[in-house]
Parts: sequence; structure tokens; C-alpha cells
Amino acid sequence: MLVNKMIFLNGQFISQDKALVSINDRGFQLGDGIYEVIRCYKGRAFRLDEHIDRLLKSAEAIRLELPYSRDELIEYVKELLVGVSWDYADIYIQATRGSAPRTHEFPAKVSPTVVMYISQSQGVPETTREKGITAIIVPDTRGTLCNIKSVNLLPNVLARQAAVEAGADEALFEREGIGVVEGAASNIFAVREGVLSTGPLSPYTLPGVTRDCVLQLAKSQGLPTELRFHSRQELLSASEVFITSTSKEVLAIADLAGYRIGNGRPGSITLKLAKDYRALVERECGL
Ligand SMILES: Cc1ncc(COP(=O)(O)O)c(C=O)c1O
Repeated sequence: MLVNKMIFLNGQFISQDKALVSINDRGFQLGDGIYEVIRCYKGRAFRLDEHIDRLLKSAEAIRLELPYSRDELIEYVKELLVGVSWDYADIYIQATRGSAPRTHEFPAKVSPTVVMYISQSQGVPETTREKGITAIIVPDTRGTLCNIKSVNLLPNVLARQAAVEAGADEALFEREGIGVVEGAASNIFAVREGVLSTGPLSPYTLPGVTRDCVLQLAKSQGLPTELRFHSRQELLSASEVFITSTSKEVLAIADLAGYRIGNGRPGSITLKLAKDYRALVERECGL
């Protein structure tokens, strides 16, 4: 449900029924755009700077010149948050190369389309957190631009749909010769012999804001960490596996590809990191 509030479209806050984008928009026609999702707790955006930084990096990576400065983007986000007090909300930002007659190459004259809005969302139910989720493993059909948060999400959409049709919650991408790299909308962590590991920054993974928080939390607790991808077998035999994302936070996988992880319940390291992550959110958001 959208907040009863204005949508930011190209420099103006307008009502939802007037927030229209052309059918010539290159986001619609070609997936030529980028986005961000920022979780807000009781009206406070968590790790706003990091999300804006990643948006700017994504824009640079696709050679999209945003019409707003970093400070202006932050001001617009703050504007969206005025009067919002929901427990959970998400700010969605999308920038495309803009609207122009369809060509693959960049049009000579085009100005970006920038949209931002806030919507109410739900936290992960406590019962799900306590039980953990189920995930499947699918072949990674994506290319090598996965570090860019682009709106080209077809492989992710198909992977998540495959998960839902298999009665699972998430799909993990397995890349030949590399390992299981990340989820359809999440990063993956494993605990093996007391060492916490996740994939390194690479063209095969999104540099998750939550991933970064979890690595910082682990290091601050003196938990040994390692940056490496895992084979399917290594994940299946790990004592704990969990995903991280802005909306799921830290969430245990209890069943992966039909195999029980650990004793089939969220492990102690996962639960502690989930709790510490929530404490970090509360601290930084002043809750
Ligand atoms: C493909 C992919 N990887 C990882 C993540 C996690 O990133 P973040 O923690 O910044 O939400 C997401 C988030 O949606 C994602 O879509």
C-alpha cells in the first residue's frame, strides 16, 4: 500500500494518479535503469548514506548522469519521510536513462527519469525468524553486471518464481566454476567450523548494505570471517546458512535444496547476528 503522500517524479512531488512515465521510457523499453530500496523503521531511514552511495555507484556504472546531487537526493528522501511513523516502510528510488524513441545506444538528447516513493511494509514474522526459511538452488543465468543494482531483474524474477512454485522462500544462484553466489534478492552467509563466510565483492554479487553491516558486526565481536564463495556441497554441510537483505535483515535458511541445515533450526551465530543487527538498527535510527 502506498503512503497517502506524494510521489517524487523528476523534481516534483505529485499525486500518484498524476505520476505517469512515458511508454518510451528506457526503463520500460530496455531495462536501462537502476534502483535502490531503503528500509525505514518508525519513519527513520536505515543506512541512508550507504544506499545513496550505492545508487550513485550504480548510476556511474551504467554511465547515467543523475540530475541531482547527493545532498539533493538525501533532501528528497527526507521529504518523503515527513509524517511517516509506520513500524516498517520502504523507500524505492529508480532512475532510468529517460524517455526517447527506442534505440539500443544512448540517445543524443535524453534526460533521466527519477522516481521516488515510500510505501508501508511488513517485518519478517517472528515465527518465520524462529523457524528459518526454505531455499532452492538454481543455475545463475545472469551475466557479470550483478554488482550494479539495475532494473534488469528477469533472472531474479524467474528464480524467485521457481522458489515459490517449489514451496520455498528464496532461490540461490549457482554459477558454474564459482559456486553459490547470492540469492534472488539477498546475499548468502555460511558458518563452517566456527568461521563466518560470505562471497567476496565480485561481478556476481550485489554489494549488500546488510551484508556489510553483518561483516562489521562479526568483526567487532571477534568472530572469524572469510570472503569466499561456497560450492553447493559446502553450503549443504555448513552448520548454519543465512541470507541478508534490507527487508529480510538476517534470516536463517533451515532447509536448502531439500536438505536440513545444521539441526534444522536457526543456529546460535545466526540468531545472535540477527539480534545484533536489530540492535544496530535501533541505535542508528534512534529508536
Ligand atoms: C540480488 C541481490 N543481492 C543482494 C541483495 C541484498 O542487498 P541489501 O542488503 O543492500 O538489501 C539484494 C537486495 O535486494 C539483491 O537484490
